[in-house]
Amino acid sequence: MDRMQETTERLKRVSQAHLLVGAEKLSAPALSRFLNEINSLPLEELAGMLAQTSSQKSRDLSLLSPPNIIHHDAASSIEFREAGEHMIRRGQVAAFTVAGGQGTRLGWRGPKGTYPATVVTGKPLFRVFAEQILASERRYSVRIPWFIMTSPQNDADTRAFFADNNYFGRQKQEHIFIPQGVVPCTDADGNILMSAAGEIATNPDGHGGAIHALHSSGALKEMSTRGITQLSYFQVDNPLVRAIDPIFLGAHVSATGSSGEMSSKCVPKRNAAEKVGVLCNIPTEAGNRTTVIEYSDLPTAMANQRDAAGELAFGAANIAVHVISVEFATRLATSSDIRLPWHRAHKKVSCFDAATGVHTNPDKPNAYKFECFIFDALPLARSSITLQTSRMEEFAPIKNAEGEDSPASSHRIQSDRNGAWLESVGVIIPRRTDGSVDAKIEIGPMAALEANDLRNRTTIKSIRRGEEFVM
Ligand code: UD1
Repeated sequence: MDRMQETTERLKRVSQAHLLVGAEKLSAPALSRFLNEINSLPLEELAGMLAQTSSQKSRDLSLLSPPNIIHHDAASSIEFREAGEHMIRRGQVAAFTVAGGQGTRLGWRGPKGTYPATVVTGKPLFRVFAEQILASERRYSVRIPWFIMTSPQNDADTRAFFADNNYFGRQKQEHIFIPQGVVPCTDADGNILMSAAGEIATNPDGHGGAIHALHSSGALKEMSTRGITQLSYFQVDNPLVRAIDPIFLGAHVSATGSSGEMSSKCVPKRNAAEKVGVLCNIPTEAGNRTTVIEYSDLPTAMANQRDAAGELAFGAANIAVHVISVEFATRLATSSDIRLPWHRAHKKVSCFDAATGVHTNPDKPNAYKFECFIFDALPLARSSITLQTSRMEEFAPIKNAEGEDSPASSHRIQSDRNGAWLESVGVIIPRRTDGSVDAKIEIGPMAALEANDLRNRTTIKSIRRGEEFVM
């Protein structure tokens, strides 16, 4: 049987034979590319994905309870830091950034990691993370590999950005780019959509696709060979993230008796309506486990529920910072009975009808996009902790062009954090009546990774109102 016949048979088996309508009009190279594309897709999974995502909304959320949170005090911080630093020094830690998203909400053309994020010099997000990793490498005299998940749409641009910037002064070979997989978009009846003649409409398979991408690219194997045991996971959108945090790494290991598989950081939600996922406890057959419920899935009554102390009961905001053990990621990727659930979203997708040759740019949602979420691995982890941290210290994401989680809101938090760091070493900082810092202050990772690093390093006495200050 030739490839065309084989593909036709396969498409018939999965009720997607419409994809080859008009294929005879394609040139030989275009047809060959099209067949390759079709055959690279997880077509046999699609019916299951549709069935599973249609029943998702009926999940029983009444069983959820607030999570067990670790608040680190001075004593536990010392213990956690020692454990974390020990692992970093021994080369057991790698950084892992999920950077495959399309950044549509921000309206930035190009990989989101290339977005100018810092408050005065506009350093791109990738540079901020690279400098943090470089500063940690110098501090602990170790090489820290950085795995970066891209998507087929932004892989080439991401690699070019790192090459053009000479890998921000780090070793080229310590950057491992891993393109994530894609899944087809479908209409309401489950028919795969096309984006053009000989092209399927697809989208990246979500940050949960990281597990498969790390495995199929050979990255997990490479990590094991190098003795890397823990991944410091973070999203591409948060310039205040601690890319390598010894306290979190140490808590993940020492607070679980070395059995930690996947741990999370949280901050208190700003208010009941904040658009973040929340960390919760969920009973499973294997006992109580941690899980994340997206804001869109959390019923309003639960979002507003208060505990005895008057705090939001479901108020532990997921800031999408995790430690994931390499062993756990490998177990997830290689066990035939484990699969992260799919989520689907109803979206507008431009599409092409091969039968009529008509392109449509819909003005209302016409398609389902499917994604997996990394936090759905949490309930599968046999052991994990949730560490609370400070929003001002570690969470200033850039997601939207304006309003909450925008460049402007991130800049304000960055200046607040940097102002507080300088104040802690005696610098006088101008503040507005609402307590926020009234200056633009940037502190690069090479100058300080945390407030303590500023001790004996600053000679300035004060910053003027409205001043732009960089160190
Ligand atoms: C996410 C979390 C939310 C959390 C918030 C904190 C989800 C569904 N929700 O929301 O619980 O409170 O962050 O900031 O994730 N990405 C890929 N490939 C993909 C899709 C996304 O690499 O296919 C990456 C993006 O580049 C980005 C990150 O995942 O770094 C987050 O994706 P996004 O869909 O923007 O999630 P949020 O709505 O920000």
